[in-house]
Amino acid sequence: MNNNIITVTSPLLPDLDAFNELLKDIWQRKWITNNGHYHQELEKALAEYLKVPYVSLFTNGTLPLITALQALRITGEVITTPYSFVATTHSLWWNGIKPVFVDIDPKTCCIDPNKIEAAITPKTTAIMPVHVYGKPCDMQAIQDIADKYGLKVIYDAAHAFGVEVGGKSVLNAGDLSTLSFHATKVYNTIEGGAMIMHDAKTKQRIDYLKNFGFAGETEVVAPGINSKMDEMRSAYGLLNLKQVDAAIEARHQVAIKYREALRNVEGIDFWDDQPGVKHNYSYFPIFVNAAKYGMTRDELYFKMKEQGVLGRRYFYPLISDFTTYRGLPSATKENLPVATKIADEVICLPMHHGLSEEDIERILNCILK
Ligand SMILES: Cc1ncc(COP(=O)(O)O)c(C=O)c1O
Repeated sequence: MNNNIITVTSPLLPDLDAFNELLKDIWQRKWITNNGHYHQELEKALAEYLKVPYVSLFTNGTLPLITALQALRITGEVITTPYSFVATTHSLWWNGIKPVFVDIDPKTCCIDPNKIEAAITPKTTAIMPVHVYGKPCDMQAIQDIADKYGLKVIYDAAHAFGVEVGGKSVLNAGDLSTLSFHATKVYNTIEGGAMIMHDAKTKQRIDYLKNFGFAGETEVVAPGINSKMDEMRSAYGLLNLKQVDAAIEARHQVAIKYREALRNVEGIDFWDDQPGVKHNYSYFPIFVNAAKYGMTRDELYFKMKEQGVLGRRYFYPLISDFTTYRGLPSATKENLPVATKIADEVICLPMHHGLSEEDIERILNCILK
């Protein structure tokens, strides 16, 4: 085992002196949460950076999912993907909604729109797709189905910070989108997240909901929750926003090197950039075809681990395989053949702004035989 571990990700940290200056200012203001100065500044700055009309900050990326479902009063059944982080489906469960899993498109790992209609029942009220790894879903096809059946669309866009198609943010698609600013993400506020909405009225409603439903000193208009972001993390987020473009470009360079080296390796598949898409290089998944590569995904994963290179089998197991969900009628492997295959083949290689040439060489040497 190599003691010099290469981790799958590494947090983008703001300059400590600059952060200290902002902390001093917060100490002087003595206003440390509840829609303070930095919270307001970060919401404005993010809306501009992300090219979206309204942003509401949250304390993580799970609570905006739960709150979005509350805000749109979603009930019954929601169509979603098994190929995501478990929080996507948990948000439905926490709202007493039955998840209905639909298989994914192997070209994107996002929900396959061609399979959605067959899963719609009279109880279906919404679709919750995920822009997996920041790859854009087929948003037009999903919206067409939603319009045809009168369904809402809530995007889990936890991975899609800054992703654009044709110069437009993917965060503008659907009724609502949510982001995660967890430490592992391209852009982080340590823990944190956001909801993106189209109009001021919805923003107001979400802001009430994330603050217990308070619409003033004495009025509670809805059964809200507490999911506000504090001032320290908002200030940290403002500083990270200034360096996120450079971090994304550094990831892009890593992706270029991975692709160059892996292009002709039999049995290892990966994606190139999509024309017209501004990617954020949040992950670099490879797909291992055991028969062609001569080693299974798990054999390669553990070989890498042995050499101190920590990939991540992301997303494995599928959400539909976890105890809570595996009894659902839609959770069977027969219903989800593509997701089942990909979950057995995928490894996300280490991907972050701080990977050195040496790191990249060590990572690639594990894969190149
Ligand atoms: C697709 C997806 N949805 C939701 C979440 C939940 O975000 P958080 O960890 O910020 O609560 C994550 C985070 O890892 C995620 O990857």
